Amino acid sequence: MVRHGVKKGDRVVIYMPMIPQTMYSMLACARIGAIHSLIFGGFASKELSVRIDHAKPKLIVTASFGVEPKRKVEYISLLEGALARVQSKPDKVLIYKRPNLGHVPLAPGRDLDWEEELAKAQHYKCVSVPSDHPLYILYTSGTTGLPKGVVRPTGGYAVMLNWTMSAVYGLKPGEVWWAASDLGWVVGHSYICYGPLLHGNTTVLYEGKPVGTPDAGAYFRVLAEHEVAAFFTSPTAIRAIRQQDPAAALGKQYSLKRFRTLFVAGERCDVDTLQWSKQVFKVPVLDHWWQTESGSAITASCIGLGNSTTPPPGQAGKPVPGYNVMILDENKEPVKAKTLGNIVVKLPLPPGAFSGLWENQETFQKLYFQKFPGYYDTMDAGYMDEDGYLYVLSRADDVINVAGHRISAGAIEECVLFHHAVADCAVVGQEDPLKGHVPFALCVLREGIKTEEEKILEEIVERVRANIGPVAAFQKGVFVKQLPKTRSGKIPRSALSALVSGKPYKITPTIEDASVFKHIEEVLKKN
Ligand code: COA
Ligand code: AMP
Repeated sequence: MVRHGVKKGDRVVIYMPMIPQTMYSMLACARIGAIHSLIFGGFASKELSVRIDHAKPKLIVTASFGVEPKRKVEYISLLEGALARVQSKPDKVLIYKRPNLGHVPLAPGRDLDWEEELAKAQHYKCVSVPSDHPLYILYTSGTTGLPKGVVRPTGGYAVMLNWTMSAVYGLKPGEVWWAASDLGWVVGHSYICYGPLLHGNTTVLYEGKPVGTPDAGAYFRVLAEHEVAAFFTSPTAIRAIRQQDPAAALGKQYSLKRFRTLFVAGERCDVDTLQWSKQVFKVPVLDHWWQTESGSAITASCIGLGNSTTPPPGQAGKPVPGYNVMILDENKEPVKAKTLGNIVVKLPLPPGAFSGLWENQETFQKLYFQKFPGYYDTMDAGYMDEDGYLYVLSRADDVINVAGHRISAGAIEECVLFHHAVADCAVVGQEDPLKGHVPFALCVLREGIKTEEEKILEEIVERVRANIGPVAAFQKGVFVKQLPKTRSGKIPRSALSALVSGKPYKITPTIEDASVFKHIEEVLKKN
Protein backbone atom coordinates (compact mmCIF):
# COMPACT_ATOMS: atom_id res chain seq x y z
CA MET A 1 0.00 0.00 0.00
CA VAL A 2 2.73 2.43 1.00
CA ARG A 3 4.68 1.72 -2.18
CA HIS A 4 1.62 2.69 -4.19
CA GLY A 5 1.24 5.99 -2.39
CA VAL A 6 -1.34 5.21 0.29
CA LYS A 7 -0.76 7.56 3.24
CA LYS A 8 -2.28 8.42 6.61
CA GLY A 9 -5.86 9.62 6.07
CA ASP A 10 -6.25 8.13 2.56
CA ARG A 11 -9.21 5.83 2.10
CA VAL A 12 -8.94 2.20 1.06
CA VAL A 13 -12.09 0.35 0.01
CA ILE A 14 -12.03 -3.36 0.84
CA TYR A 15 -14.55 -5.48 -1.05
CA MET A 16 -13.71 -9.04 -0.12
CA PRO A 17 -15.08 -12.32 1.19
CA MET A 18 -14.49 -13.95 4.57
CA ILE A 19 -10.84 -14.83 4.14
CA PRO A 20 -7.77 -13.92 6.22
CA GLN A 21 -6.52 -11.56 3.49
CA THR A 22 -9.48 -9.29 4.26
CA MET A 23 -8.33 -8.96 7.85
CA TYR A 24 -4.71 -8.46 6.77
CA SER A 25 -5.91 -5.57 4.61
CA MET A 26 -7.84 -3.98 7.49
CA LEU A 27 -4.89 -4.32 9.84
CA ALA A 28 -2.47 -2.98 7.22
CA CYS A 29 -4.62 0.14 6.89
CA ALA A 30 -4.74 0.56 10.67
CA ARG A 31 -0.96 0.23 10.82
CA ILE A 32 -0.33 3.07 8.37
CA GLY A 33 -3.24 5.31 9.41
CA ALA A 34 -5.18 4.76 6.18
CA ILE A 35 -8.97 4.71 6.66
CA HIS A 36 -10.58 1.49 5.50
CA SER A 37 -14.10 1.10 4.26
CA LEU A 38 -15.31 -2.47 3.93
CA ILE A 39 -18.24 -3.15 1.67
CA PHE A 40 -20.27 -6.28 2.20
CA GLY A 41 -20.14 -8.77 -0.69
CA GLY A 42 -23.92 -9.09 -0.83
CA PHE A 43 -24.23 -5.53 -2.17
CA ALA A 44 -24.43 -5.13 -5.93
CA SER A 45 -22.49 -2.82 -8.25
CA LYS A 46 -24.67 0.26 -7.86
CA GLU A 47 -24.54 0.26 -4.04
CA LEU A 48 -20.81 -0.37 -4.29
CA SER A 49 -20.36 2.54 -6.70
CA VAL A 50 -22.24 4.97 -4.44
CA ARG A 51 -19.95 4.05 -1.56
CA ILE A 52 -16.79 4.30 -3.71
CA ASP A 53 -17.82 7.72 -4.99
CA HIS A 54 -18.45 8.91 -1.47
CA ALA A 55 -15.28 7.52 0.16
CA LYS A 56 -13.02 8.38 -2.83
CA PRO A 57 -10.49 5.63 -2.14
CA LYS A 58 -6.93 5.77 -3.40
CA LEU A 59 -6.85 1.98 -3.49
CA ILE A 60 -9.44 -0.80 -3.68
CA VAL A 61 -8.55 -4.24 -2.39
CA THR A 62 -10.59 -7.15 -3.67
CA ALA A 63 -10.43 -10.87 -4.25
CA SER A 64 -11.17 -12.90 -7.33
CA PHE A 65 -14.13 -14.79 -5.86
CA GLY A 66 -16.27 -15.35 -2.83
CA VAL A 67 -17.98 -18.63 -2.07
CA GLU A 68 -21.72 -18.70 -1.40
CA PRO A 69 -23.50 -22.06 -0.94
CA LYS A 70 -24.95 -22.19 -4.45
CA ARG A 71 -22.64 -19.93 -6.42
CA LYS A 72 -19.37 -18.09 -6.67
CA VAL A 73 -19.51 -14.35 -5.95
CA GLU A 74 -17.77 -12.66 -8.88
CA TYR A 75 -16.14 -9.77 -7.07
CA ILE A 76 -14.18 -8.57 -10.09
CA SER A 77 -17.15 -8.21 -12.41
CA LEU A 78 -19.20 -6.58 -9.64
CA LEU A 79 -16.34 -4.16 -9.07
CA GLU A 80 -15.95 -3.46 -12.80
CA GLY A 81 -19.69 -2.70 -12.90
CA ALA A 82 -19.25 -0.24 -10.05
CA LEU A 83 -16.10 1.40 -11.46
CA ALA A 84 -17.89 1.99 -14.76
CA ARG A 85 -20.34 4.23 -12.86
CA VAL A 86 -18.04 6.11 -10.47
CA GLN A 87 -16.64 9.61 -10.84
CA SER A 88 -13.66 9.09 -8.55
CA LYS A 89 -11.66 6.16 -9.81
CA PRO A 90 -9.05 4.63 -7.50
CA ASP A 91 -5.40 4.79 -8.55
CA LYS A 92 -4.95 1.04 -8.12
CA VAL A 93 -6.91 -2.15 -7.51
CA LEU A 94 -5.11 -4.84 -5.50
CA ILE A 95 -6.47 -8.30 -6.29
CA TYR A 96 -6.06 -11.45 -4.24
CA LYS A 97 -6.53 -14.44 -6.54
CA ARG A 98 -8.10 -17.29 -4.63
CA PRO A 99 -6.45 -20.57 -5.48
CA ASN A 100 -8.37 -23.05 -7.65
CA LEU A 101 -11.27 -20.74 -8.38
CA GLY A 102 -10.60 -19.83 -11.96
CA HIS A 103 -8.43 -17.40 -13.93
CA VAL A 104 -8.60 -13.65 -13.38
CA PRO A 105 -7.13 -11.28 -15.96
CA LEU A 106 -5.56 -8.12 -14.52
CA ALA A 107 -6.14 -4.69 -16.06
CA PRO A 108 -2.65 -3.40 -17.05
CA GLY A 109 -1.62 -0.19 -15.29
CA ARG A 110 -4.42 -0.40 -12.74
CA ASP A 111 -4.48 -3.85 -11.18
CA LEU A 112 -1.90 -5.26 -8.79
CA ASP A 113 -1.46 -8.91 -7.97
CA TRP A 114 -1.54 -9.63 -4.21
CA GLU A 115 1.13 -12.34 -4.26
CA GLU A 116 3.50 -10.31 -6.46
CA GLU A 117 3.11 -7.23 -4.27
CA LEU A 118 3.58 -9.22 -1.09
CA ALA A 119 6.79 -10.72 -2.43
CA LYS A 120 8.17 -7.21 -2.96
CA ALA A 121 6.80 -5.67 0.26
CA GLN A 122 9.03 -4.30 3.02
CA HIS A 123 8.34 -4.17 6.71
CA TYR A 124 6.81 -0.80 7.55
CA LYS A 125 6.66 1.02 10.86
CA CYS A 126 3.41 1.71 12.74
CA VAL A 127 2.20 5.25 12.03
CA SER A 128 1.04 7.21 15.08
CA VAL A 129 -2.36 8.89 14.82
CA PRO A 130 -4.36 11.11 17.19
CA SER A 131 -6.94 9.11 19.16
CA ASP A 132 -9.81 10.62 17.17
CA HIS A 133 -8.25 9.75 13.80
CA PRO A 134 -10.82 7.73 11.78
CA LEU A 135 -9.97 4.05 11.83
CA TYR A 136 -12.71 3.25 9.36
CA ILE A 137 -15.83 4.37 7.54
CA LEU A 138 -18.64 1.84 7.61
CA TYR A 139 -21.67 2.55 5.46
CA THR A 140 -25.06 1.71 6.88
CA SER A 141 -28.65 2.24 5.79
CA GLY A 142 -31.55 4.28 6.99
CA THR A 143 -33.54 7.45 6.51
CA THR A 144 -31.28 9.31 4.10
CA GLY A 145 -31.32 8.36 0.42
CA LEU A 146 -27.54 8.09 0.42
CA PRO A 147 -25.84 5.50 2.61
CA LYS A 148 -24.50 6.92 5.84
CA GLY A 149 -20.74 6.58 6.34
CA VAL A 150 -20.31 5.98 10.06
CA VAL A 151 -16.88 7.27 11.15
CA ARG A 152 -15.09 5.34 13.90
CA PRO A 153 -12.41 7.10 15.94
CA THR A 154 -9.36 4.96 16.70
CA GLY A 155 -8.36 5.35 20.35
CA GLY A 156 -11.64 5.19 22.27
CA TYR A 157 -12.79 2.29 20.10
CA ALA A 158 -9.70 0.26 20.93
CA VAL A 159 -10.17 0.91 24.65
CA MET A 160 -13.89 0.09 24.54
CA LEU A 161 -13.45 -3.11 22.54
CA ASN A 162 -10.65 -4.37 24.75
CA TRP A 163 -12.75 -3.69 27.86
CA THR A 164 -15.92 -5.34 26.49
CA MET A 165 -14.11 -8.61 25.75
CA SER A 166 -13.96 -9.26 29.50
CA ALA A 167 -16.77 -7.03 30.89
CA VAL A 168 -19.48 -7.99 28.38
CA TYR A 169 -18.27 -11.33 27.04
CA GLY A 170 -16.50 -12.67 30.15
CA LEU A 171 -13.37 -13.79 28.28
CA LYS A 172 -9.81 -14.16 29.50
CA PRO A 173 -6.89 -13.50 27.11
CA GLY A 174 -5.85 -16.72 25.39
CA GLU A 175 -9.35 -18.13 25.04
CA VAL A 176 -10.98 -18.81 21.68
CA TRP A 177 -13.84 -16.56 20.58
CA TRP A 178 -16.11 -16.74 17.56
CA ALA A 179 -18.38 -14.05 16.14
CA ALA A 180 -20.33 -15.61 13.26
CA SER A 181 -20.93 -12.47 11.27
CA ASP A 182 -19.31 -10.98 8.18
CA LEU A 183 -16.31 -8.64 8.22
CA GLY A 184 -18.45 -6.26 6.15
CA TRP A 185 -20.77 -5.55 9.11
CA VAL A 186 -20.01 -3.78 12.35
CA VAL A 187 -19.99 -7.05 14.29
CA GLY A 188 -17.23 -8.24 11.98
CA HIS A 189 -15.17 -5.07 12.46
CA SER A 190 -15.52 -5.06 16.24
CA TYR A 191 -15.62 -8.72 17.14
CA ILE A 192 -14.10 -10.76 14.35
CA CYS A 193 -11.20 -8.39 13.81
CA TYR A 194 -10.26 -5.74 16.37
CA GLY A 195 -11.83 -6.73 19.74
CA PRO A 196 -10.47 -10.27 20.14
CA LEU A 197 -7.05 -9.37 18.74
CA LEU A 198 -6.67 -6.39 21.09
CA HIS A 199 -7.63 -8.56 24.06
CA GLY A 200 -5.37 -11.47 23.14
CA ASN A 201 -8.11 -13.86 22.09
CA THR A 202 -7.98 -16.22 19.14
CA THR A 203 -10.67 -15.23 16.66
CA VAL A 204 -12.47 -17.69 14.40
CA LEU A 205 -13.02 -16.52 10.82
CA TYR A 206 -15.73 -18.64 9.24
CA GLU A 207 -16.61 -18.53 5.56
CA GLY A 208 -19.85 -20.45 5.74
CA LYS A 209 -23.46 -20.44 6.79
CA PRO A 210 -25.34 -21.98 9.70
CA VAL A 211 -27.00 -24.40 7.26
CA GLY A 212 -26.14 -25.77 3.83
CA THR A 213 -22.34 -25.69 4.33
CA PRO A 214 -22.82 -28.59 4.42
CA ASP A 215 -25.56 -29.01 7.03
CA ALA A 216 -27.14 -27.74 10.24
CA GLY A 217 -24.33 -29.22 12.32
CA ALA A 218 -21.70 -26.80 10.98
CA TYR A 219 -21.76 -24.31 13.87
CA PHE A 220 -21.46 -27.13 16.42
CA ARG A 221 -18.52 -28.58 14.52
CA VAL A 222 -16.64 -25.26 14.47
CA LEU A 223 -17.38 -24.68 18.17
CA ALA A 224 -16.06 -28.16 19.02
CA GLU A 225 -13.03 -28.26 16.68
CA HIS A 226 -11.70 -24.91 17.85
CA GLU A 227 -12.70 -25.28 21.50
CA VAL A 228 -14.56 -22.01 21.42
CA ALA A 229 -15.28 -20.48 24.86
CA ALA A 230 -17.83 -17.85 23.81
CA PHE A 231 -19.83 -17.44 20.64
CA PHE A 232 -21.77 -14.54 19.08
CA THR A 233 -24.44 -15.12 16.44
CA SER A 234 -27.81 -13.86 15.22
CA PRO A 235 -31.28 -15.20 16.05
CA THR A 236 -31.80 -15.80 12.29
CA ALA A 237 -28.87 -18.20 12.22
CA ILE A 238 -30.32 -20.14 15.16
CA ARG A 239 -33.77 -20.24 13.54
CA ALA A 240 -32.14 -21.58 10.36
CA ILE A 241 -30.49 -24.44 12.28
CA ARG A 242 -33.70 -25.22 14.14
CA GLN A 243 -35.77 -25.19 10.94
CA GLN A 244 -33.54 -27.84 9.35
CA ASP A 245 -32.74 -29.88 12.42
CA PRO A 246 -35.42 -29.30 15.09
CA ALA A 247 -33.85 -31.66 17.64
CA ALA A 248 -30.29 -30.52 16.81
CA ALA A 249 -29.45 -34.17 16.15
CA LEU A 250 -26.45 -33.19 13.99
CA GLY A 251 -25.12 -30.87 16.66
CA LYS A 252 -25.38 -33.41 19.44
CA GLN A 253 -22.53 -35.49 18.05
CA TYR A 254 -20.05 -32.73 19.02
CA SER A 255 -18.65 -32.18 22.47
CA LEU A 256 -18.58 -28.47 23.34
CA LYS A 257 -16.41 -28.84 26.39
CA ARG A 258 -15.00 -25.31 26.61
CA PHE A 259 -18.18 -23.55 25.51
CA ARG A 260 -19.55 -21.24 28.26
CA THR A 261 -21.77 -18.51 26.82
CA LEU A 262 -23.79 -17.78 23.69
CA PHE A 263 -24.48 -14.14 22.76
CA VAL A 264 -27.11 -13.03 20.27
CA ALA A 265 -27.69 -9.64 18.63
CA GLY A 266 -28.48 -7.96 15.34
CA GLU A 267 -32.26 -8.24 15.60
CA ARG A 268 -34.92 -8.95 18.18
CA CYS A 269 -34.56 -12.47 19.55
CA ASP A 270 -37.96 -14.10 20.00
CA VAL A 271 -38.39 -15.96 23.26
CA ASP A 272 -38.98 -19.30 21.50
CA THR A 273 -35.63 -19.11 19.69
CA LEU A 274 -33.92 -18.08 22.94
CA GLN A 275 -35.34 -21.04 24.87
CA TRP A 276 -34.49 -23.49 22.11
CA SER A 277 -30.88 -22.32 21.97
CA LYS A 278 -30.53 -22.64 25.75
CA GLN A 279 -31.74 -26.24 25.58
CA VAL A 280 -29.59 -27.17 22.62
CA PHE A 281 -26.32 -25.43 23.51
CA LYS A 282 -26.74 -25.97 27.26
CA VAL A 283 -25.17 -22.61 28.12
CA PRO A 284 -26.59 -19.20 29.11
CA VAL A 285 -27.89 -17.36 26.04
CA LEU A 286 -27.61 -13.60 26.37
CA ASP A 287 -29.23 -11.08 24.07
CA HIS A 288 -27.54 -7.69 23.74
CA TRP A 289 -28.40 -4.63 21.71
CA TRP A 290 -26.22 -2.34 19.64
CA GLN A 291 -25.84 -0.55 16.35
CA THR A 292 -23.26 0.25 13.71
CA GLU A 293 -23.13 3.72 15.23
CA SER A 294 -22.21 2.48 18.73
CA GLY A 295 -19.58 -0.05 17.63
CA SER A 296 -20.19 -2.16 20.74
CA ALA A 297 -23.07 -3.09 23.01
CA ILE A 298 -25.31 -0.31 24.35
CA THR A 299 -27.19 -2.74 26.59
CA ALA A 300 -25.97 -6.18 27.63
CA SER A 301 -25.67 -8.55 30.56
CA CYS A 302 -22.13 -7.64 31.63
CA ILE A 303 -21.19 -11.04 32.97
CA GLY A 304 -17.60 -9.93 33.54
CA LEU A 305 -18.96 -7.35 35.98
CA GLY A 306 -21.11 -9.92 37.81
CA ASN A 307 -24.43 -9.40 35.97
CA SER A 308 -26.89 -12.31 35.98
CA THR A 309 -26.57 -15.01 33.33
CA THR A 310 -30.34 -15.66 33.60
CA PRO A 311 -32.00 -12.32 32.80
CA PRO A 312 -35.75 -12.30 32.03
CA PRO A 313 -36.70 -13.52 28.52
CA GLY A 314 -37.29 -10.87 25.85
CA GLN A 315 -34.83 -8.34 27.30
CA ALA A 316 -31.61 -7.20 25.61
CA GLY A 317 -29.63 -6.41 28.77
CA LYS A 318 -29.07 -3.35 30.93
CA PRO A 319 -27.13 -0.22 29.90
CA VAL A 320 -23.42 -0.93 29.52
CA PRO A 321 -21.24 1.47 31.59
CA GLY A 322 -20.82 4.65 29.54
CA TYR A 323 -24.36 4.53 28.09
CA ASN A 324 -27.13 6.38 29.90
CA VAL A 325 -30.12 4.83 28.13
CA MET A 326 -33.53 6.45 28.56
CA ILE A 327 -37.01 6.07 27.08
CA LEU A 328 -38.68 9.32 26.00
CA ASP A 329 -42.16 10.04 24.67
CA GLU A 330 -42.85 12.25 21.65
CA ASN A 331 -42.81 15.30 23.98
CA LYS A 332 -39.23 14.43 24.94
CA GLU A 333 -40.29 13.47 28.46
CA PRO A 334 -39.05 10.30 30.19
CA VAL A 335 -41.75 7.62 30.44
CA LYS A 336 -42.57 5.27 33.33
CA ALA A 337 -41.15 1.73 33.48
CA LYS A 338 -42.73 -0.69 30.98
CA THR A 339 -44.06 2.17 28.80
CA LEU A 340 -43.21 2.06 25.12
CA GLY A 341 -41.22 5.02 23.79
CA ASN A 342 -38.18 6.22 21.87
CA ILE A 343 -34.90 4.72 23.03
CA VAL A 344 -32.31 7.49 23.42
CA VAL A 345 -28.89 7.86 25.03
CA LYS A 346 -28.16 10.90 27.19
CA LEU A 347 -25.07 12.69 25.88
CA PRO A 348 -22.14 12.36 25.90
CA LEU A 349 -21.68 9.10 24.06
CA PRO A 350 -18.91 6.89 25.45
CA PRO A 351 -15.54 6.14 23.81
CA GLY A 352 -15.89 3.85 20.82
CA ALA A 353 -19.13 5.35 19.55
CA PHE A 354 -19.12 7.04 16.14
CA SER A 355 -17.75 10.54 15.84
CA GLY A 356 -19.65 11.56 12.74
CA LEU A 357 -20.82 10.69 9.25
CA TRP A 358 -18.11 10.85 6.61
CA GLU A 359 -18.24 14.26 4.91
CA ASN A 360 -21.75 14.76 6.18
CA GLN A 361 -21.61 16.38 9.62
CA GLU A 362 -24.79 18.30 8.91
CA THR A 363 -26.82 15.13 8.47
CA PHE A 364 -25.05 13.66 11.50
CA GLN A 365 -26.31 16.52 13.68
CA LYS A 366 -29.79 16.62 12.18
CA LEU A 367 -30.44 12.91 12.09
CA TYR A 368 -29.21 11.83 15.47
CA PHE A 369 -29.30 14.86 17.77
CA GLN A 370 -32.05 17.22 16.64
CA LYS A 371 -35.28 15.44 17.57
CA PHE A 372 -34.26 14.94 21.21
CA PRO A 373 -31.85 17.76 22.15
CA GLY A 374 -29.21 16.54 24.60
CA TYR A 375 -29.67 12.92 23.56
CA TYR A 376 -28.52 10.55 20.83
CA ASP A 377 -31.60 9.21 19.00
CA THR A 378 -31.11 5.47 18.45
CA MET A 379 -34.17 5.33 16.17
CA ASP A 380 -35.24 2.18 17.98
CA ALA A 381 -38.43 1.94 20.01
CA GLY A 382 -38.97 -0.13 23.14
CA TYR A 383 -39.35 -0.01 26.90
CA MET A 384 -37.41 -0.58 30.11
CA ASP A 385 -38.70 -2.59 33.06
CA GLU A 386 -38.40 -1.64 36.75
CA ASP A 387 -35.06 -3.43 37.02
CA GLY A 388 -33.52 -1.49 34.12
CA TYR A 389 -33.67 -4.28 31.49
CA LEU A 390 -34.29 -2.94 27.99
CA TYR A 391 -36.79 -4.50 25.58
CA VAL A 392 -36.19 -3.41 21.95
CA LEU A 393 -39.32 -3.76 19.83
CA SER A 394 -39.05 -1.92 16.52
CA ARG A 395 -37.36 0.76 14.45
CA ALA A 396 -38.82 4.24 14.26
CA ASP A 397 -37.28 4.92 10.81
CA ASP A 398 -37.43 3.12 7.46
CA VAL A 399 -34.93 0.37 8.32
CA ILE A 400 -36.03 -3.24 7.76
CA ASN A 401 -34.00 -5.80 9.66
CA VAL A 402 -33.55 -8.71 7.23
CA ALA A 403 -31.72 -11.69 8.74
CA GLY A 404 -29.91 -9.31 11.10
CA HIS A 405 -28.95 -7.04 8.21
CA ARG A 406 -30.06 -3.42 8.11
CA ILE A 407 -31.79 -2.67 4.80
CA SER A 408 -33.33 0.68 3.89
CA ALA A 409 -36.95 0.47 2.71
CA GLY A 410 -36.47 3.88 1.09
CA ALA A 411 -33.59 2.64 -1.03
CA ILE A 412 -35.70 -0.29 -2.32
CA GLU A 413 -38.62 2.08 -3.02
CA GLU A 414 -36.35 4.36 -5.01
CA CYS A 415 -35.20 1.41 -7.07
CA VAL A 416 -38.76 0.10 -7.67
CA LEU A 417 -39.92 3.57 -8.74
CA PHE A 418 -37.38 3.50 -11.56
CA HIS A 419 -39.58 0.89 -13.27
CA HIS A 420 -41.59 2.70 -15.94
CA ALA A 421 -44.85 0.94 -14.96
CA VAL A 422 -44.78 1.96 -11.30
CA ALA A 423 -46.31 5.27 -10.22
CA ASP A 424 -45.97 4.91 -6.46
CA CYS A 425 -44.54 2.39 -4.06
CA ALA A 426 -44.16 1.62 -0.35
CA VAL A 427 -41.80 -1.05 0.92
CA VAL A 428 -42.30 -2.37 4.44
CA GLY A 429 -41.09 -5.33 6.47
CA GLN A 430 -43.21 -8.48 6.41
CA GLU A 431 -42.69 -10.95 9.25
CA ASP A 432 -40.77 -14.03 8.13
CA PRO A 433 -40.30 -17.20 10.18
CA LEU A 434 -36.61 -17.45 9.20
CA LYS A 435 -35.24 -13.97 8.52
CA GLY A 436 -37.34 -12.06 11.06
CA HIS A 437 -38.56 -9.71 8.34
CA VAL A 438 -38.33 -9.53 4.55
CA PRO A 439 -39.11 -6.49 2.37
CA PHE A 440 -42.61 -6.41 0.86
CA ALA A 441 -43.59 -3.90 -1.85
CA LEU A 442 -46.99 -2.32 -2.31
CA CYS A 443 -47.00 -0.79 -5.80
CA VAL A 444 -49.42 1.46 -7.66
CA LEU A 445 -49.26 1.08 -11.44
CA ARG A 446 -49.37 3.96 -13.89
CA GLU A 447 -52.60 4.47 -15.85
CA GLY A 448 -52.94 2.35 -18.98
CA ILE A 449 -50.26 -0.25 -18.14
CA LYS A 450 -51.17 -3.48 -19.91
CA THR A 451 -48.23 -5.71 -18.90
CA GLU A 452 -49.12 -8.58 -16.57
CA GLU A 453 -48.55 -7.78 -12.90
CA GLU A 454 -46.56 -10.99 -12.42
CA LYS A 455 -44.12 -9.93 -15.15
CA ILE A 456 -43.72 -6.45 -13.66
CA LEU A 457 -43.02 -7.93 -10.22
CA GLU A 458 -40.35 -10.20 -11.72
CA GLU A 459 -38.69 -7.18 -13.34
CA ILE A 460 -38.81 -5.18 -10.12
CA VAL A 461 -37.28 -8.05 -8.14
CA GLU A 462 -34.50 -8.37 -10.69
CA ARG A 463 -33.89 -4.62 -10.61
CA VAL A 464 -33.54 -4.54 -6.82
CA ARG A 465 -31.19 -7.52 -6.92
CA ALA A 466 -29.03 -5.89 -9.58
CA ASN A 467 -28.96 -2.46 -7.93
CA ILE A 468 -29.03 -3.06 -4.20
CA GLY A 469 -27.93 -6.67 -4.09
CA PRO A 470 -29.10 -10.16 -3.16
CA VAL A 471 -28.71 -9.40 0.54
CA ALA A 472 -31.93 -7.35 0.45
CA ALA A 473 -33.78 -10.68 -0.07
CA PHE A 474 -36.51 -8.81 -1.93
CA GLN A 475 -39.00 -11.10 -3.64
CA LYS A 476 -42.53 -10.16 -2.70
CA GLY A 477 -45.04 -7.51 -3.61
CA VAL A 478 -48.63 -6.75 -4.63
CA PHE A 479 -50.31 -4.14 -6.81
CA VAL A 480 -52.84 -1.84 -5.21
CA LYS A 481 -54.92 1.13 -6.42
CA GLN A 482 -53.61 3.58 -3.83
CA LEU A 483 -51.24 3.83 -0.88
CA PRO A 484 -52.20 5.18 2.51
CA LYS A 485 -50.33 8.38 3.32
CA THR A 486 -50.39 10.87 6.15
CA ARG A 487 -51.42 14.43 5.38
CA SER A 488 -47.76 15.34 5.15
CA GLY A 489 -47.23 12.58 2.57
CA LYS A 490 -45.50 10.03 4.82
CA ILE A 491 -46.02 6.30 4.51
CA PRO A 492 -47.45 4.78 7.74
CA ARG A 493 -44.75 2.09 7.81
CA SER A 494 -45.54 0.33 11.07
CA ALA A 495 -49.27 0.02 10.28
CA LEU A 496 -48.53 -1.28 6.77
CA SER A 497 -45.92 -3.67 8.11
CA ALA A 498 -48.48 -5.10 10.57
CA LEU A 499 -51.07 -5.28 7.79
CA VAL A 500 -48.88 -7.25 5.36
CA SER A 501 -47.85 -9.53 8.26
CA GLY A 502 -51.54 -10.33 8.95
CA LYS A 503 -51.46 -8.64 12.35
CA PRO A 504 -53.76 -6.05 13.93
CA TYR A 505 -52.80 -2.51 12.92
CA LYS A 506 -53.63 1.00 14.08
CA ILE A 507 -54.76 3.75 11.71
CA THR A 508 -53.58 7.10 13.04
CA PRO A 509 -55.87 10.14 12.64
CA THR A 510 -53.32 11.80 10.33
CA ILE A 511 -54.03 9.26 7.57
CA GLU A 512 -55.77 10.97 4.69
CA ASP A 513 -57.93 8.10 3.44
CA ALA A 514 -58.32 5.23 5.91
CA SER A 515 -60.38 3.13 3.45
CA VAL A 516 -57.15 2.37 1.54
CA PHE A 517 -56.17 -0.07 4.31
CA LYS A 518 -59.32 -2.15 3.67
CA HIS A 519 -58.57 -2.18 -0.06
CA ILE A 520 -55.02 -3.44 0.60
CA GLU A 521 -56.37 -6.11 2.96
CA GLU A 522 -58.60 -7.38 0.16
CA VAL A 523 -55.75 -7.43 -2.37
CA LEU A 524 -53.59 -9.38 0.10
CA LYS A 525 -56.39 -11.93 0.64
CA LYS A 526 -56.58 -12.58 -3.11
CA ASN A 527 -52.81 -13.09 -3.48
N1 COA B 1 -21.50 -12.05 -0.57
C1 COA B 1 -22.29 -12.18 -1.64
N2 COA B 1 -23.57 -12.54 -1.57
C2 COA B 1 -24.08 -12.77 -0.36
C3 COA B 1 -23.32 -12.64 0.81
C4 COA B 1 -21.97 -12.26 0.67
N3 COA B 1 -21.18 -12.09 1.71
N4 COA B 1 -24.11 -12.93 1.87
C5 COA B 1 -25.32 -13.24 1.38
N5 COA B 1 -25.30 -13.13 0.04
C6 COA B 1 -26.39 -13.43 -0.88
C7 COA B 1 -26.73 -14.89 -0.80
O1 COA B 1 -25.93 -15.67 -1.65
C8 COA B 1 -28.18 -14.89 -1.23
O2 COA B 1 -28.20 -14.82 -2.63
P1 COA B 1 -29.19 -15.72 -3.52
O3 COA B 1 -30.46 -14.92 -3.53
O4 COA B 1 -28.50 -15.79 -4.85
O5 COA B 1 -29.34 -17.05 -2.86
C9 COA B 1 -28.73 -13.55 -0.70
O6 COA B 1 -27.57 -12.72 -0.50
C10 COA B 1 -29.44 -13.68 0.62
O7 COA B 1 -28.52 -14.29 1.49
P2 COA B 1 -28.80 -14.77 2.97
O8 COA B 1 -29.29 -13.63 3.81
O9 COA B 1 -27.55 -15.44 3.45
O10 COA B 1 -30.01 -15.74 2.84
P3 COA B 1 -30.04 -17.28 2.50
O11 COA B 1 -31.48 -17.57 2.24
O12 COA B 1 -29.05 -17.63 1.46
O13 COA B 1 -29.59 -17.97 3.87
C11 COA B 1 -29.55 -17.91 6.30
C12 COA B 1 -30.42 -17.91 5.03
C13 COA B 1 -30.44 -17.90 7.50
C14 COA B 1 -28.68 -19.15 6.30
C15 COA B 1 -28.66 -16.65 6.27
O14 COA B 1 -29.50 -15.51 6.15
C16 COA B 1 -27.80 -16.47 7.50
O15 COA B 1 -26.79 -17.09 7.67
N6 COA B 1 -28.21 -15.55 8.34
C17 COA B 1 -27.46 -15.14 9.50
C18 COA B 1 -26.90 -13.79 9.19
C19 COA B 1 -26.17 -13.21 10.34
O16 COA B 1 -25.49 -13.89 11.07
N7 COA B 1 -26.37 -11.91 10.51
C20 COA B 1 -25.79 -11.23 11.60
C21 COA B 1 -25.06 -10.05 11.13
S1 COA B 1 -24.42 -9.29 12.56
P1 AMP C 1 -26.79 -2.57 12.64
O1 AMP C 1 -26.45 -1.13 12.69
O2 AMP C 1 -26.79 -3.16 11.28
O3 AMP C 1 -26.00 -3.37 13.63
O4 AMP C 1 -28.31 -2.67 13.10
C1 AMP C 1 -28.69 -2.10 14.31
C2 AMP C 1 -30.16 -2.31 14.53
O5 AMP C 1 -30.45 -3.71 14.63
C3 AMP C 1 -30.63 -1.72 15.85
O6 AMP C 1 -30.88 -0.34 15.75
C4 AMP C 1 -31.87 -2.54 16.12
O7 AMP C 1 -32.96 -2.09 15.36
C5 AMP C 1 -31.47 -3.93 15.62
N1 AMP C 1 -30.90 -4.72 16.72
C6 AMP C 1 -29.60 -4.99 16.95
N2 AMP C 1 -29.46 -5.78 18.04
C7 AMP C 1 -30.71 -6.00 18.51
C8 AMP C 1 -31.25 -6.73 19.63
N3 AMP C 1 -30.46 -7.41 20.45
N4 AMP C 1 -32.59 -6.72 19.80
C9 AMP C 1 -33.41 -6.03 18.96
N5 AMP C 1 -32.97 -5.34 17.89
C10 AMP C 1 -31.63 -5.31 17.67
